[in-house]
Amino acid sequence: MNKEITIIANWKSNKSLPEVEGFLAEFEKLLATRRFDSSVKLVLAPAFPALPLVSDWLKSAQVLRAEGALAISLAAQDISPYPAGSYTGAVSARNLEGLNLEYVLVGHSERRHYFGESNQVIANKIDQALSSNLVPILCLDDPDFESQAVVMSAEARAKSLVAYEALSAIGTGQSTRPEVVIEAREQLAHHYDLPKFIYGGSVTAENVGDYLEISDGLLVGGASLKPEDLMAILDQVKDWQERADSGRG
Ligand code: PGA
Repeated sequence: MNKEITIIANWKSNKSLPEVEGFLAEFEKLLATRRFDSSVKLVLAPAFPALPLVSDWLKSAQVLRAEGALAISLAAQDISPYPAGSYTGAVSARNLEGLNLEYVLVGHSERRHYFGESNQVIANKIDQALSSNLVPILCLDDPDFESQAVVMSAEARAKSLVAYEALSAIGTGQSTRPEVVIEAREQLAHHYDLPKFIYGGSVTAENVGDYLEISDGLLVGGASLKPEDLMAILDQVKDWQERADSGRG
């Protein structure tokens, strides 16, 4: 059995709706020429307005029904820390119902930095996500490991999928050295259950192999925006699995 690998494509505030349609049409062509092991999972995280479009595509695309089809699920990039109600502009867990989401990104360093989100706000978002059965993908850089954990319940710490993303690696082309990622994982294990561990920060098809051994998946920003770049990453995951498989041989 191959280890399960989850690739999360975070499109951030990129792509108009026609651009998302264009991406899906191209990506579909690339998918049609490949087969995947069921242990490879892709998660698409478009901006809120594109969620219904991608959700409908996931329901209807024939290429996702074929044998050896890639398993793809959907994530929101953010969620309100409040329940449904009078919170103008916020997108609550209730608003996201019916879209067949599986995940929600929470605490991305861009949310912490540009939108001033505190650890407590992020903990509240995680509670909202869990109350709607969404899996929170909790993004953390070294300074947040403990301060974030202390404001979370034991349940939230056990159920969050933790993604380690050093600020210095996000969108900079300077991915974090694998030794540093291993050390971060060890530190994180003091505070979170880590059923799975995700690495993010300047991941590309060229360096993806460096992280598959030491993680259960990757959070990819810039290199997930073009269909061919995202597929190149998935191809590397397949190659890595085949090598690991023959090594076990
Ligand atoms: P990047 O972004 O791959 O462009 O570095 C990663 C992220 O911010 O999730």
